[in-house]
Amino acid sequence: MCGIVGYIGTKNCVPILLEGLKRLEYRGYDSAGIGIINSTECKVIKTKGKVSELEKLVNKENTVSSLGIGHTRWATHGEPSILNAHPHVNEDHTLFLIHNGIIENYASLKKGLQSQGYKFVSETDTEVLAHLIDRYLKLKNNLFQAVRYALNEVEGTYGIAVIYKNEPDKIIAAKKGSPLVIGVGKNENFIASDVNALIAHTSQVVYLEDGEIAEIFQDHFHAKTIADESIIKEIHEVDMSVDEITKGGYPHYMLKEIMEQSESLYNSMRGRLLLKEGISKLGGLQGYEDRIANSERIIISACGTSWHAGLVGEYMLEQYTGIPVEVEYASEFRYRHPVITPKDTVIFISQSGETADTLAAMKEAKKKGALCLGVCNVVGSSIARESQTGVYIHAGPEIGVASTKAFTSQLLVLALITLLIARRKNLNLPDGQEIIQELQTLTSKVETILKLNDVIEKIAGQYVNSKNFLYLGRGYNFPVALEGALKLKEISYIHAEGYPAAEMKHGPIALIDDNMPVVFIAMKDSVYEKVVSNIEEVKARKGRIIAIVNEDDNQIDKLVDHVIRIPKTIQMLQPILSVIPLQLLAYHIAVKKGLNVDQPRNLAKSVTVE
Ligand code: AGP
Repeated sequence: MCGIVGYIGTKNCVPILLEGLKRLEYRGYDSAGIGIINSTECKVIKTKGKVSELEKLVNKENTVSSLGIGHTRWATHGEPSILNAHPHVNEDHTLFLIHNGIIENYASLKKGLQSQGYKFVSETDTEVLAHLIDRYLKLKNNLFQAVRYALNEVEGTYGIAVIYKNEPDKIIAAKKGSPLVIGVGKNENFIASDVNALIAHTSQVVYLEDGEIAEIFQDHFHAKTIADESIIKEIHEVDMSVDEITKGGYPHYMLKEIMEQSESLYNSMRGRLLLKEGISKLGGLQGYEDRIANSERIIISACGTSWHAGLVGEYMLEQYTGIPVEVEYASEFRYRHPVITPKDTVIFISQSGETADTLAAMKEAKKKGALCLGVCNVVGSSIARESQTGVYIHAGPEIGVASTKAFTSQLLVLALITLLIARRKNLNLPDGQEIIQELQTLTSKVETILKLNDVIEKIAGQYVNSKNFLYLGRGYNFPVALEGALKLKEISYIHAEGYPAAEMKHGPIALIDDNMPVVFIAMKDSVYEKVVSNIEEVKARKGRIIAIVNEDDNQIDKLVDHVIRIPKTIQMLQPILSVIPLQLLAYHIAVKKGLNVDQPRNLAKSVTVE
């Protein structure tokens, strides 16, 4: 999604803005631009395409300024083009605006402005806001108040930064529904949509909340609500280093993040396992354990990969706690008038913590009195802050658009939540201890799987030209089949479907011929024999089969084309291991197709629009 970065201080902002935009590239975008104001000029430089293209243009101009804003745009209103790229400007080119989000009533605002003589050059909703602020500037002659008045007319979502030639000592920033963070430096301040863009300069940050507007100067800032009430903002220390957001010698973030999973899983469980007591310790849930354990129902709501994690969570929680669980797409949940009561606990899973649909679903559940529990990766993200209780997954920054290590850490945290609640219900001490012992063996098992990278790369080589894929699994491994298919389609653009293996005969079996690769997740668990029967059915129709099996399996290799053997663990934890070969398979197929795996077309890392 779109990215925002801004600087005010004593240094030349141009390299700072470009570097910040590069750190936001992972979010997905299709055009980029910067706007600077100095004592002699107000300049906007924009391009369609990558920040590297923008950098070439900027370098030709030799621009220097200590006040500037930069943006990466992910098209919503109007195609990716220079005219539609941000910053947008007022008519006399003295006011620059960058915007994340969507102005829903832009058409009526535009009509009103056109009737007053304003001319538009782009198809965007953002340009409307630039002119609206300009109109209020003419009335109020004060940038802060002009922005505030304009925003009071806006319906929709925004994270914005505005600079103005006649008030060159400040950036105005405001937020509603799109993340925005102020970076507090020494004699310099920053604004960004994501801490990654400013972490190289400062670890002191201030999170703006919905309905807040800030006036940011070189050496201080203050904030108000859009309704003009003063507020005091707390400064937070971010615990993240620049090393964590670089590729660390890997060709792609995605491969780095897959390869990091032994470490990220370790970090997700560090300090959270109490072997003697056979229970997990989750500080974020303290005081809420009984309310969760006594819930009449648990609902899990999320999108994409996080939704797949929620499906595994459903199996875990129902098996071990006996509490009925429902899993809902956040985008559906928010609009279908769901029946939610104060006796429900709703778990919201989101890597970014900024997904607009999940955030809106959370607000809906909160309104109806349910306990809202966030499972997020990004510390200080909107969902983490809005939830009443929650658990961070501590997977570390995930930059690749295709989620990998966050998924396995989400599963791990769901297992920890399950253990905590189950021990308050019926799970006995030895069974709790067995789960903990299995959790403790996970990281070495992950390392064993990661050593299969070369084997999986060779298999991938045979399927680069495939047009379709089926992924089949049962029980705990059905959501893994969905996730494997999603990974492949996201980054390789090969159409892939995940199904519960037994559902195949109700339709998808019609697709099977000698051109159809079918990936089976066939673990030695309670449904193993049934999955073997499904493999036989595919074999009988000449489908090409890749099977993920347990190390001690000696039944399946005669039936299939490729076998990937992985260590065994208890059923609840098996998805954490069985998904890793599927991540590697998708990665290698996409790389062999020459595709940009870290920034796949049309996708964004955090989807902050509906
Ligand atoms: C994952 O590979 C996807 N890019 C996507 O489905 C993602 O999981 C989804 O957009 C939800 O994101 P979140 O976890 O940040 O809320």
